[in-house]
Amino acid sequence: MSRSRARQLGNLPAEVTSFVGRRAEIAEVKRLLSRSRLVTLTGVGGVGKTRLALRVAEQARRSFADGVWLVELAKLQDMRLLPDLVASTLGIADQTVRDRVEVLADFLADRRLLLVLDHCEHLVPAVAQLVVELLPAAPGLRVLATSREDLQVFAEHLYPLAPLAVPAGQGPLGAAAGVRYPALALFAERAAAVDQGFAVSDANAVLVAGVCQRLEGIPLAIELAAARLRSLSLAQVAERLDDRFRLLSSGNRAALARHQTLRAAVDWSFELCTKPERLLWMRAFVFASSFDLPAAEGVCGGDGLPVDEVVEALTGLVAKSVLVPVTDRSRADDSLAGGDSTLGATGCWTRCASTGWIACAPSTPRIRGTASPWWTRRRCAAGTATPT
Ligand SMILES: Nc1ncnc2c1ncn2[C@@H]1O[C@H](COP(=O)(O)OP(=O)(O)OP(=O)(O)O)[C@@H](O)[C@H]1O
Ligand SMILES: [Mg+2]
Repeated sequence: MSRSRARQLGNLPAEVTSFVGRRAEIAEVKRLLSRSRLVTLTGVGGVGKTRLALRVAEQARRSFADGVWLVELAKLQDMRLLPDLVASTLGIADQTVRDRVEVLADFLADRRLLLVLDHCEHLVPAVAQLVVELLPAAPGLRVLATSREDLQVFAEHLYPLAPLAVPAGQGPLGAAAGVRYPALALFAERAAAVDQGFAVSDANAVLVAGVCQRLEGIPLAIELAAARLRSLSLAQVAERLDDRFRLLSSGNRAALARHQTLRAAVDWSFELCTKPERLLWMRAFVFASSFDLPAAEGVCGGDGLPVDEVVEALTGLVAKSVLVPVTDRSRADDSLAGGDSTLGATGCWTRCASTGWIACAPSTPRIRGTASPWWTRRRCAAGTATPT
């Protein structure tokens, strides 16, 4: 097949907005994809998994003579229809009653093709099953998946995607920060779309950096905040970040429904959680940032979440990218009264992937407006947590 024909094959959409940063990430995912037949980009909602996957796929086109194909799963509710959706995306016209997975396996058997399975988190068992059946049947197939939750299959190589870099600390910054830090660059790009001429300058760099830091470098949140410059000044956006659910409540109507507001993005993850995971998520917002297993058990266990089930709920929240393990001991020590002794005892510390997101987790009557919140009692008993 000629090179130009190979370039035509596939269905990747053209980018509608500018792409910022991620050079190292693109290189790393491409490297992983050259070694592993299944790579899953995981990470908190809005961190940029889809954008990164599409960039990588675009750049990897030449390696796949039979094309690079995006299968968009966000709107698929019935997981039994997954093989049909993949087949129709690939343009397979098979009107027989043959098993769809078999049809797919036959079609893919001698093809060299990259499947990008975008938004797998609500269909994890079905995607895992499909991939496990297709990979052995089709040696030229590679899969790049995006999911808030990993697929947990043997062949999977996980790539947890971090937010965009923001300046550390609160030191002086100049206009150059808008180039140096991708989070600031993204804010400036999106701000300029609604506030002509907006740019990171010596005068506003600290304020822009503050906004991006508060939003922890999450691209979706940064875009929603920048869109607010339509009607608010930068200082007003910065001031209102305490109530970010209200502030970040309108964005791009063309985006996925769950990307139109911050609440929708969080709710999507929340709906995918089990009941114990939801309870732990809501209760974990009493921690200022990081906490360990004994603290989670002491503070969050009970009242519908048995203490011996906390570890499983915690594991589930980590798998779903709601919580992330803390690997940097000094950061954990900073924010916890518990200190090293607990670290040694458990070896398992976790931190909110994005404190703000957790702190804004869907509230319940139990937490909202209770005169004497349940966690105040528990916090005193546990003694290791730092409440917000
Ligand atoms: N590197 C980037 N450059 C420019 N825009 C970005 C970048 N990364 C993400 N964005 C923008 O941020 C928003 C969220 O990104 P994206 O949809 O890739 O997140 P996601 O991790 O796939 O979210 P979800 O978990 O909901 O699927 C999108 O509007 C996207 O265009
Ligand atoms: Mg996505």
